[in-house]
Amino acid sequence: MLVKLQDLYFKPFISEEKIQDAVQQMVDALAEDLKDEMPIFVGILNGSFMFVSDFVKKYPHPCEVTFIKLASYDGVKSTEDIQRLIGLTQDLTDRTVVILEDIIDSGNTLAEVHRIFKNENVKQLLIATLFYKPEAYKKDFKLHYVGIEIPNKFIVGYGLDYNGLGRDLPEVYQLKTTQHMTNIVLFGPPGAGKGTQANFLKDKYNLVHISTGDVFRYNIKNETALGTLAKSYMDKGELVPDEVTIDMLNAEVEKNADAKGFIFDGFPRTNAQAEALDVLMNTKDSQINAMVALEVEDEVLVSRLLERGKTSGRPDDADEGIIRNRIKEYYDKTAILKDYYSSQDKYFGVDGVGSIEEITERLSTVLDKL
Ligand code: IMP
Ligand code: MG
Repeated sequence: MLVKLQDLYFKPFISEEKIQDAVQQMVDALAEDLKDEMPIFVGILNGSFMFVSDFVKKYPHPCEVTFIKLASYDGVKSTEDIQRLIGLTQDLTDRTVVILEDIIDSGNTLAEVHRIFKNENVKQLLIATLFYKPEAYKKDFKLHYVGIEIPNKFIVGYGLDYNGLGRDLPEVYQLKTTQHMTNIVLFGPPGAGKGTQANFLKDKYNLVHISTGDVFRYNIKNETALGTLAKSYMDKGELVPDEVTIDMLNAEVEKNADAKGFIFDGFPRTNAQAEALDVLMNTKDSQINAMVALEVEDEVLVSRLLERGKTSGRPDDADEGIIRNRIKEYYDKTAILKDYYSSQDKYFGVDGVGSIEEITERLSTVLDKL
């Protein structure tokens, strides 16, 4: 799941488990090297609080722990004017001091640390950092223990923040640099007003409406390679394979590369398709944010469709038996998708009875939160 902190989005990057493994490896290495010492671990606040806490809990020998605090990032740019805020109060003469840093980026903070400890007459000063950005590092100080090397991209979580936020997350997230999209799968039984609402939403949120039916008709009519392929299955009375449909959707998504997001309509219909759609969005560094389903009682749907049948001339809107069957089929087929998206907390049911404006309003409440 993406995390939004103020104006930025972050995507999952390093799991809790990987972090704990790295912490354990650092503990093992230090415990071995310092088995005859009583080290004093010095955490650099604020970012290192979580790392230091996990580190000393795992550390198998007696040790001392303290913290110092320095100014850090203002936003996402490294600032040059680092200051010592809270200094050391204890005598470190002849002690083995291990600096525990959450992250080393440019190395400016580390330079400051070295300056502070120069006059402390310590026995040795060892540097241990959980995260390290080699591409950003501009100093020559030796890093004695490094947990995980990461690319030069901004991260949050596990003590690290963006403008004060995100420190509490137990795993690490990386800044998402591509534009955030709002992608929804729109559902609703026949007669729920899906088409009408899709039109409003697409204008209001600047989304591209991808109706699978329209995409099929377009590709077949224009005899695209995929259209021709799809038609060859249809002519044999076979279902078009999911890969072909996904390829068509991919082409639509790529045609609209700078869209603010997509409304998928008529797809997915099965678990396998929902998974394939997740894979597709993932390749675009994006995701499906929600399945939004218009909920309307059967009796209301039947009377709406019969009413529409009087003027639309669609034969499947004229017969009550056929209508009830279509509604039933919708529920049979979509129940499974409701489960798929519910299990990811992405299912949003919206009351589809009321005026068009009222329903648009309800849908907007959902979309505004995504
Ligand atoms: P330096 O550039 O090595 O001096 O790192 C300065 C400080 O910037 C670190 O101690 C962190 O507080 C912060 N910092 C560096 N990179 C990141 C990051 O990717 N996310 C959050 N904070 C960071
Ligand atoms: Mg720090």
